[in-house]
Amino acid sequence: MDTPRKAVELLVVGASEVATPLGTTGRGGADLGRIAVRPGAGIACDRGRIVAVASDRELRERYAARSTVDAAGGVVIPGLVDAHTHPVFDGTREGEFEQRMAGATYLEIAAAGGGIRSSLAGVRAASAEVLTAKLRQRLDRFLALGTTTLEAKTGYGLTVVDELKGLDVIAAADRAHPVDLVATCLGAHSVPPEHSADPLRWERIVIEELWPAAASRAQFADVFTERSAFGLDSSRRLMQAAKAVGLGVRMHVDQLTPLGGAELAAELGAASADHLEHVTPRGIEALARAGVVPVLCPLVPLYLREPQEAPARRMVEGGLAPALATDFNPGSCYCMSLFEVMSFAALRYGFSAAEALTGATLNAAASLGLAADRGSLEVGKRADLVITDLPNHHHLTYEVGRSPVVAVVKDGRVVWRRGASYSESQA
Ligand code: NIG
Ligand code: FE
Repeated sequence: MDTPRKAVELLVVGASEVATPLGTTGRGGADLGRIAVRPGAGIACDRGRIVAVASDRELRERYAARSTVDAAGGVVIPGLVDAHTHPVFDGTREGEFEQRMAGATYLEIAAAGGGIRSSLAGVRAASAEVLTAKLRQRLDRFLALGTTTLEAKTGYGLTVVDELKGLDVIAAADRAHPVDLVATCLGAHSVPPEHSADPLRWERIVIEELWPAAASRAQFADVFTERSAFGLDSSRRLMQAAKAVGLGVRMHVDQLTPLGGAELAAELGAASADHLEHVTPRGIEALARAGVVPVLCPLVPLYLREPQEAPARRMVEGGLAPALATDFNPGSCYCMSLFEVMSFAALRYGFSAAEALTGATLNAAASLGLAADRGSLEVGKRADLVITDLPNHHHLTYEVGRSPVVAVVKDGRVVWRRGASYSESQA
């Protein structure tokens, strides 16, 4: 007699391949490019978790599903994890983009009062409700592009009140939307103009008022370590104070100049060191020794027309497991697509499709402390999956400029389908 089939909520079958990193991090040069590719496999999900990854035939024999999704010959991958975004803002900066195309540099534009400072007025003037509505619209787009977990920074308020408003906006959008948000307080993004005569005053406010108030609302604190923002000593004081109130540490380092921010991130035991275009061999060694995850944003130097890009291959050879991120923000990268980022990681760093997929899933989750819970398609992990129309996983990097996403499953439920309205997707 046949054994009774176990009831589950969702089966995904009909895929050409299930492609996924394995484990809790892709750390290590060799491991980074090693993913599991299972032709003809599918996935069973129940109560928000993956309960089996097996051949379609085996899944149909073992499980009776309340609903079944046919992947129609496409590749299924983990829900994408974007480890670095600045999505809380009001107002775009396309004028600065045009200025850069005409030859101005990012630092010149910032020195003339543009850049980060030009986004402050919008956030300060907008209500939390308006900012939440804008963020939710952006999350709709991220989700349609296969992103199911998003690290979201504040950093365009730069008063205590406006930074906390930004964190409240992130919390409200997180509650209202299927995309999971991880909140980072970037109160040390730039010295706000009202403190430019006495930058140490803003540093003190961040340390004494902002971090303690942010500690219950954010998982991480962040700093822009750069000569034009916060130098090494100031960054060290800021991040030590953040740690003292229980915040994790992420840092923008060595983006525009080689200041030694990577070494500082290592010294502080940061969760992530981000950008790293100008990191030195010593910085790479320090990150590897300290187990800091590098978060690379391959579109940013391209978007800023800055010639230097992150030495990603040397990082992998040095034992690091880079995460990939969009750095979505109104100034240095107005792009929400991790598919685009994966292709550019291939084109600019020479990443294989396997390395790119690991960077945009498992290593990104590792940088957020979430790799035991998501970032790969393994039994027990959160059932966050992207169903694509790609014939094989090499197309993840090979195809440029088109979204291959057909459907997105978040916590075991289909939350987005190509061509369907949002409410239809969730029905
Ligand atoms: O990650 N480097 C600093 N922060 C952003 C840019 C923000 C902006 O220009 O508004 C970045 O590139
Ligand atoms: Fe950034």
